[in-house]
Amino acid sequence: MTKQTIPPLAYDYSPLVAADDAAAFVRQGRLIHSDLKWLAPRLAAARQEVLDNLALYETAAPVPEEKQPLDAAFFDLPERLLDEDRDVLDRIQAAGDRLAAECNRVVVLGIGGSYMGARALFEACCHPYHNELGESDRGGRPRVYFEGNNVDNSVVRGLLDLLAENDDWGIIVISKSGGTLETAVAMRVFLDALRKACGNDEEKLRRRVVPITGESGRLRDLAEAIGCPEVFTIHEGVGGRFSVLSAVGLLPAAVMGLDVVKLLQGAAAMNERFRTAPPLDNPPLDYAGMCRLMETRRGATIRVMATWGKRLEAVGLWYDQLLSESLGKHGQGATPITVVNTRDLHSRGQQHQEGRRDKLITNLVVDEPEGKPLAIEQSPFDQDELNKLAGKTLPEVLNAAFDGTNRAYADDYRLTATIRLPRLDEASLGQLLQMLMVATVVEGRLVGINPYGQPGVEAYKQNMNAILRGE
Ligand code: PA5
Repeated sequence: MTKQTIPPLAYDYSPLVAADDAAAFVRQGRLIHSDLKWLAPRLAAARQEVLDNLALYETAAPVPEEKQPLDAAFFDLPERLLDEDRDVLDRIQAAGDRLAAECNRVVVLGIGGSYMGARALFEACCHPYHNELGESDRGGRPRVYFEGNNVDNSVVRGLLDLLAENDDWGIIVISKSGGTLETAVAMRVFLDALRKACGNDEEKLRRRVVPITGESGRLRDLAEAIGCPEVFTIHEGVGGRFSVLSAVGLLPAAVMGLDVVKLLQGAAAMNERFRTAPPLDNPPLDYAGMCRLMETRRGATIRVMATWGKRLEAVGLWYDQLLSESLGKHGQGATPITVVNTRDLHSRGQQHQEGRRDKLITNLVVDEPEGKPLAIEQSPFDQDELNKLAGKTLPEVLNAAFDGTNRAYADDYRLTATIRLPRLDEASLGQLLQMLMVATVVEGRLVGINPYGQPGVEAYKQNMNAILRGE
C-alpha cells in the first residue's frame, strides 16, 4: 500500500565515496570502497539488533541491564496507529478537530522531545505565515503557539497579552514525566489565565485543556483534578525525542489540520525500507553508517544539517536534540549543527568553506518547490543589473546556490551528502523523521551507546529545583 503511494525520500552519499581508491585517502578525505565493505555487515548486524530489541520489548521479557532503558516502542508506532491501534489515531484526530472547532488559538506547552517535533511539523507543513492569516485562509484551524519550552518572562507575558481576556483558546500540555519544571510552571500560568477567561464555566475549561502525559505523574493527577475529558498517554516504551509520531506530535498536527495518516504512512514506508533494503541502499542504515565512518575515519565530529529554504530549520533543531541526547554520552557523540541556506552561507559559510576539516555536511533539500514559482521580472529600474536574469525563478536561484555551494565545497574536498524530500508535505516529513530516529538508534548500536535515556539532563534539573526550594 504505502510503497506505491508515497514518493520515496532519497539519501545520496555518493559524494562521500572516492571513485579512485588509490588517490582518495591522502588528498580527498573521502571514504574508500574497503570502508564500505567493512561497514555493510556491521549495518546488517545493527539492523538485526534494532529489530531484536523491538521483539524483546514487545514480548515484555526482562531487558538486560546494559540495554536499559529500552524505549524501542517508537519504531512500529506508525504501523500500529494505522492498523491495530487505529482507534487511538481516531481519538487523536477527533480531539484535534474538536479543539480546532472550539478555539481560535491553541497554546502547546512542552519542552525537548515534548515540543520540538510538533514545532518542526508546524514550520514545515503549515503556511509559513499561518498565525498571521485570517480564519478562512487557515482552513478554520487555530493559530498555534509554543510555550513551556523556556522560562522567559517577557515572552510568556507577550503571549498572555495576545490571549488577553478572551476565552477562545485552549491548551495542549505535553510532559511524559509530568514533572518538568519549565512545562509545569507554564501550565500553572496559562491554566490560571484560561480559568479566569472561562469564568465560572468549568465544563468549558475542561474541554479546553488536553494533556498528553505518561501513565502516572503530577500532570496526570492535574488532568484528573480538572476533569479533562481527553487525556492521551505516552507509553513507557516511547522516549520523549522519539515521540513525534505519537499523540505528542500528532495531536498538535491534527489541530493544525495536517494529514496525520499521510505522516504515519510516510514513516511506515521508511520502516519497510529499513527492514528490507540491503545495507548501502537503505536510508536509515546508510545515513548512520556514513556519519559514523566520516566521524571515526575522517575526523568529521561536527555534523551539519544544511537545510535549503526556510521551512526545515525546526526539523534540523529537532534532529539536533535527537542526536545530542541520544548519543552525546560517555565522552562521545558528534556535535549537531543546523544551518539554513542561503541565509547561513553569509555566516557559517566561511567556516564551512575554509575552516577546520571536522565537518560532514548533509544537505536537506526539497525537490518540488511549493507554490507557483516567482520570477525576476524585467524592470525599468535596472540599477541592480538583474534584467539579465529576468525570467529566472526563485527556485532556480536557490538551485544555483545549492549547486554552486556544493561545487565550491567539492573543489576543496569538503564533503557533502544529500537527503532529498520529494515534496514538503506530511508523507515526506513522516519518512524523514522516522529515518532520522531509526538512524540514531542504529548508530547507537553501532557504537555501543544506549541511544535511549538522557541521564545528563538530570543534573541541571536537580540543581534548579534545589536552588528554588532553598536546599
Ligand atoms: O527526549 C527526551 O526524553 C527529553 O527531551 C524530554 O522530552 C524532555 O526533557 C521533556 O520531558 P517531559 O516530557 O517529561 O516533560
